[in-house]
Amino acid sequence: MPENAANGWTSEQIIAMDKAYVMGTYGRAPVAFVRGEGMYLWTAEGERFLDMVSGGRAGCGLGHCHPKVTRAIQEQAETLAFVSNDYYCPTRAELARRLSERTHGYKVFFTNSGTEATEGALKLARKWSKKAKGPEAVEILTAYQSFHGRSYGAMSATGQAKFQEGFEPILPGFRYMRFLDRQTIVQKMPDETCAVMLETIQGESGVNPVTKEYIQDVRKLTEEKNILLIMDEVQCGFGRTGRFWCYEHFDIQPDIVTLAKSLGGGLSVGVVLARPDVAEAFGPGTHGSTFGGNPLGTAAALAAMNTLEEENLIQNAADMGDYFRRGLATLKRNGRPIQLTRGLGLMIGVQLTAPIAAQVAMRCLEMGLLIHNVGDSVLRILPAMVAKAEHIDEALGILDKSLAISNP
Ligand SMILES: Cc1ncc(COP(=O)(O)O)c(C=O)c1O
Repeated sequence: MPENAANGWTSEQIIAMDKAYVMGTYGRAPVAFVRGEGMYLWTAEGERFLDMVSGGRAGCGLGHCHPKVTRAIQEQAETLAFVSNDYYCPTRAELARRLSERTHGYKVFFTNSGTEATEGALKLARKWSKKAKGPEAVEILTAYQSFHGRSYGAMSATGQAKFQEGFEPILPGFRYMRFLDRQTIVQKMPDETCAVMLETIQGESGVNPVTKEYIQDVRKLTEEKNILLIMDEVQCGFGRTGRFWCYEHFDIQPDIVTLAKSLGGGLSVGVVLARPDVAEAFGPGTHGSTFGGNPLGTAAALAAMNTLEEENLIQNAADMGDYFRRGLATLKRNGRPIQLTRGLGLMIGVQLTAPIAAQVAMRCLEMGLLIHNVGDSVLRILPAMVAKAEHIDEALGILDKSLAISNP
């Protein structure tokens, strides 16, 4: 370990200092990490953890410190770390080109996070709609149990009261519908709706994918009424589900798509991609970000895209996702309290038969495995796309033990 990796602090000291000085918005697990490599993280004391959540919440989809991404960051940091959007720079332009090639020539707006990508998508949709459909066409329809971020726009789009409580008034112009319910979308979508925004897989509420029938219906209805379809792929995009875009599984084409998390290869990079005629609504001065699309972040993201392709990681995500599911099915057959698994590729939700998810996740942590619990009875597994069968076997072994101990 490099000598300064923990600045000489012990885990206990790091945690105490954090608790003393950082605002208490997070319920952190009682562990501090000072180093990461591939699928593993280490504490200051050298304790090793197998990371099955990509650094937490799918933030680091190529694993920790991927050598190709690290090299690109080092080289870019030595060359040009920052110029604002007042100037051109090659990594930004090239990343935009590469992302555009992954769509039907869509145009890119760069952000620093998923939340900002949501904001950008919402603002773009309203700007387009006012011109294309009229000043009244401002309403945005999203789903209950969705998650789109924490800023006022993104929080207002998030159809879960628990994220909004205490922050009222919520922004006007948002309406929620039951996820996967065609009937409510028909009822709640008047012609003057501006956009429908959905996660292709609802991640934060327990890994719930759209169905093909539902999303194709939504696409058809939105097309008929000239309403934009925004797919939030902040978490499920960039190959994690076995396709570059998760919506490719369902044979639809959204008008706007957002992406962040895995895109930056460990740095915070987000994007909004939009159909060129929709993107035109963002003229000079309409939207912006000082750091969005900065040279360092876009160099890291370009390296992440190259790595994804060179190492065939999208196919790996599909294969390893199947492998993981087969292992979970075996645990279920062996009597572990698993009801079913959900998701696609390496975005896996495990519905337990009892409200023991927090207990199971804590047992896993004690045994050196990082997984998330969602609510009382769902485990969420989001391994990096570099995962191999041996990592999954190790995770299944620990899960098996912790589910056995926690079995009520
Ligand atoms: C689907 C989705 N959208 C938006 C966000 C917000 O992204 P960020 O935390 O990078 O702001 C998240 C974060 O979990 C997410 O899962």
